[in-house]
Amino acid sequence: MAESTRRILFSREQIATEIKRIGREISRDFQGQEVMLVGVLKGSFLFVADLIREIEIPTVIDFVRLASYGSDTQTSGIIEFRKELEMPIRDRNVIIVEDIVDSGYTLECLYNKLLLQEPRTLKICTLIDKTARREVPIEADYIGITMDDGFIIGYGLDHDEKYRNLPDIYLVEEN
Ligand code: IMP
Ligand code: MG
Repeated sequence: MAESTRRILFSREQIATEIKRIGREISRDFQGQEVMLVGVLKGSFLFVADLIREIEIPTVIDFVRLASYGSDTQTSGIIEFRKELEMPIRDRNVIIVEDIVDSGYTLECLYNKLLLQEPRTLKICTLIDKTARREVPIEADYIGITMDDGFIIGYGLDHDEKYRNLPDIYLVEEN
């Protein structure tokens, strides 16, 4: 990405609005119960931090760290677990919290692995649902913003580990 420009695609205000909505949806769906957020590091660290403060029911949190090998901007489908859960999820209402679903390989892999540990319910929450390059039929239960295609950075999302600190989400355009 030597020659590229970027422009704001999703503003911090839009992100905050959608996160408030998801927080309300989760609080409503699990009213009277407790939920466990499983943040997928690193990309979801800001999302999960903002989301948990919008949930009004008892909430616990844990993290996994996954890495998918691939080219510059595309996944290979080979997923490596670099950090496992620390808390048991059996009989809990578990919500996987992802930054973005693209091919779907990462989520499918994590979803199937967690399902084996017999949670009471297992839901998927993603800030961004990128639909154009989906390769496995996986659908999130809670979706912040849907987009077609394009590589984005900011608000936790990186390119080559950089730009996670940008408060808005930018579309990277190759020149
Ligand atoms: P998957 O293709 O659905 O397995 O997505 C794998 C991972 O690729 C996501 O969790 C992100 O970390 C990363 N990813 C996919 N699309 C983008 C993007 O547009 N910007 C930054 N990271 C992305
Ligand atoms: Mg990710």
